Amino acid sequence: MPRPIIEPFRIKVVEPIRMTTSAERRRILQAARYNLFNVRAEDVIIDLLTDSGTGAMSAEQWAAMVRGDESYAGARSYYRFEEAAHALTGMPVVFPTHQGRAAERILCSVLPLTGKVVLSNGLFDTTRANVEAAGATGIDLFARQETSQERPFGGDMDLAAFEDMLAVRQGDVALVVMTVTNNTVGGQAVSLANLRAVSARCHAEGIPLFLDACRFAENAYRVRHSEPGEAGRTLDAIAREMFDLCDGFTMSAKKDAIVNTGGMLGVRDPALAERIRVDLIRTEGFTTYGGLAGRDLEAIAQGLHEVLDETYLEYRFAASAYLAHTLERSGWSVVRPAAAHAVYLDAGAALPHLAPDDLPGQSLACALYLAGGVRACEIGNLMFGSSSPSEPRRQLVRLALPRRVYTQSHIDYVGAIGEEVAAVRHKLPAMRILEQPACLRHFSAALAPAAPFPDL
Ligand code: F0G
Repeated sequence: MPRPIIEPFRIKVVEPIRMTTSAERRRILQAARYNLFNVRAEDVIIDLLTDSGTGAMSAEQWAAMVRGDESYAGARSYYRFEEAAHALTGMPVVFPTHQGRAAERILCSVLPLTGKVVLSNGLFDTTRANVEAAGATGIDLFARQETSQERPFGGDMDLAAFEDMLAVRQGDVALVVMTVTNNTVGGQAVSLANLRAVSARCHAEGIPLFLDACRFAENAYRVRHSEPGEAGRTLDAIAREMFDLCDGFTMSAKKDAIVNTGGMLGVRDPALAERIRVDLIRTEGFTTYGGLAGRDLEAIAQGLHEVLDETYLEYRFAASAYLAHTLERSGWSVVRPAAAHAVYLDAGAALPHLAPDDLPGQSLACALYLAGGVRACEIGNLMFGSSSPSEPRRQLVRLALPRRVYTQSHIDYVGAIGEEVAAVRHKLPAMRILEQPACLRHFSAALAPAAPFPDL
């Protein structure tokens, strides 16, 4: 028997999971108006809504939190944070923020973006919202071809499209953002070769290049294991090169710093740093805490250190690959290669009786909840609005894996629920939107199924 890759940790604090019945879940989902963001966490058995802020901190992180220095200015914890962030990224100035989107908002308000264009391999939705709030247009230039096990860098920027855009919008491109890993295309990794090429073009054109770095460690691991010529390098060296190629970065620490809240914004340009400092003090707090408690800064410093552990990343990739494989065996189509932080089911492919505006992803997400209390997140037309018929977007459901939280048997449970839902997938109903807000509608829209869900 081959040796299994085990969870490289022991569990010493546990949180009970409340079991629910199928009848209870039907009532809960109806009361939540078929929007899983409205379901209470205690009514969820396995919560795969997001990997953001949902990780389990280590004993060392908790110990560091107790040592947190809560001084308003110049706290010891800030210097620990700064040292860890600097050692990882090499950025001369790194500001703490309360989460990733705060870093994005500050960056977008200090750069001259009004009337300009921001190019990206895939802007995350809050990044796009911040770009648009600053009066700029965000354009995604992700590579359009299907990814596969053999093409592991589906998160790359489409370099030909990038070149065209630089020519067509000459003088209008105010910022380029590379998101690692690329959420918009199913959490796919970005190759160093692609990042180097984008960096060279940005620097030749004098356009600032920023990294949206929230899953930098998972990206570094994929580079090391799948990119030709990179296998002999350390994860630290690969991560460092990713940052070295950029003029700055925004980061949600809720992902690869394995903390429950926090973010940061790093830059090289001292003049830009000065503008950020003023905005940060006006909106987040003094520059040595940026909206966080001293203990949060301690946990981030420790988390940044832990996340680049080869054994941890090996286990993390193995867990998602295992889930992807289990779901494929029940007939689901899964985005390949599986990202470390999530498995993405292609609901559009699995539910061909539903058109994209019938929201097959939301129907599937509701079915997973009804069948087994598994909470996942639709990433399709509910999240992004209708796509153009000539270029239909994939209707995905993301099963995000919180860091260090669930064990193999939890994942087996999710696989079993996936199998039960696969057996009735042709009977899953279209979903209709009853009410929706003006933007970011998936968080609060009210929905209803067009026909009853089958028995689950
Ligand atoms: N960038 C990316 C690529 C993200 O995935 C997120 C958050 C952010 C920025 C914003 O960070 O939440 O700390 O403000 N993604 C979460 C998710 C919400 O579920 O994927 P934040």
